[in-house]
Amino acid sequence: MKFSKDFMFGVATSAAQVEGAALEDGKGLNIWDVYARIPGTITDGSTPDPACDHYHTWKQDVQTMKELGVDSYRFSFAWSRILPKGKGEINQKGLDFYKRLIDELHRNDIKPNATLYHWDLPYELEREGGWLNRDVVDWYGEYASLLFKEFGDSVPYWATINEPIATYVGYGQGWFAPGRIGEKFGRQANHHVLLAHGEGVRRFREENLKNSQIGIVVDIWHHHPLRPDHAEDIAIAELENEKAYRSYINPIFKGCYSDALLKYMEENNCMPDMKDGDMEKIAQKLDFFGLNCYNRVLDCADKSLLKLKKEINAGGNYMDNGNEKYPKAVYDAAKILVNDYQIGIPIIVTENGTYNCSEEFAADGRIHDTERIQYLNGFLEWIHKAIEEGIDIRGYYAWSLMDNWEWSAGYSYRFGLIHNNFETQERTWKDSAYWYQNLIRESRK
Ligand code: NOJ
Repeated sequence: MKFSKDFMFGVATSAAQVEGAALEDGKGLNIWDVYARIPGTITDGSTPDPACDHYHTWKQDVQTMKELGVDSYRFSFAWSRILPKGKGEINQKGLDFYKRLIDELHRNDIKPNATLYHWDLPYELEREGGWLNRDVVDWYGEYASLLFKEFGDSVPYWATINEPIATYVGYGQGWFAPGRIGEKFGRQANHHVLLAHGEGVRRFREENLKNSQIGIVVDIWHHHPLRPDHAEDIAIAELENEKAYRSYINPIFKGCYSDALLKYMEENNCMPDMKDGDMEKIAQKLDFFGLNCYNRVLDCADKSLLKLKKEINAGGNYMDNGNEKYPKAVYDAAKILVNDYQIGIPIIVTENGTYNCSEEFAADGRIHDTERIQYLNGFLEWIHKAIEEGIDIRGYYAWSLMDNWEWSAGYSYRFGLIHNNFETQERTWKDSAYWYQNLIRESRK
């Protein structure tokens, strides 16, 4: 498996998961800072502070990226670090932090790939209804314009939103911030997040930047029926695909919600309020599609069969963390984008990774996360195959550069190539980091 010399290898993180400094230098609270303080919301009772203290260790972290040999770093801006109240007054110290980071990346020949919104809505905006208030589209637009004007072409890749489904989970299901529950809330928040994406694209085009591109990052976890010939399983999987990833890529690439989703929303009293022109705004032309891919999902009307499958296959097709190994998921997702949606723009795999693969220090002082290497390698093989078959995939980002704060799982899920001691902030390269370094080196030969 060898990738072309211009294939971009990167590592990814997000602001709330690595920066820490939640209340430093004028940063305002975001919905996760607040949600995490509600007892019972985060598995280990932690908050996104100090995370990896990246707000202070950024320089050292960029050196680690340099040593890894990556071409690009994907990170996100913390909205409430820049606009502490979400709108209005600008926090210069927040902008300065990202300026230092971006300059340091350029000094080290690492291309910035920045996401405007990675789940951390300013809490002050949540107090006004957050993603349920249609005004959020303008608040987001103001924030987006500020960033495009400030950093413009120094960021070659911009993403409007990371995994819009997180907003649905936060407003519909309650197990993400801000913790609201109700299908109607979830669908409404979703619609506004899509509109904000469209507004972001519009504002980006307004700036007429010469060397930057704009896209969105969506996760595709395709649902398959456990029993491929069983009508009930097929129906469940179909509906789940409609409610999940297709509810974003249909509006973005086809300019509409599907009939199946409209029917579901009608029948379940959760149709979002929409206005004329919304779909045109959402469906603007993009420069690239950011694909996050971790796995597929199996659905079955009889839940006991799913459990049984896991037990039978334990140690075989399942990893120690309980997840199925299905690296072909990324190939399937790329095919969906090309065949079902004819997206006609390059794909960048903006996230792929796994957690808790022998994360302990062995007697030799190293971390032998062999399962992570197998997992990442498996996905890269399928990406390679897709490229060979003519699919335009331009890059790959491992999630994540280092262990960080994994949202509702707190510090209990370790996703990093680099191990982090959250008390001392000492970083240690896992075997997977050395493996990635070597893979990149070999591809450059
Ligand atoms: C998706 C998200 O974008 C990221 O924030 C998260 O940590 C990873 N997947 C792993 O769950």
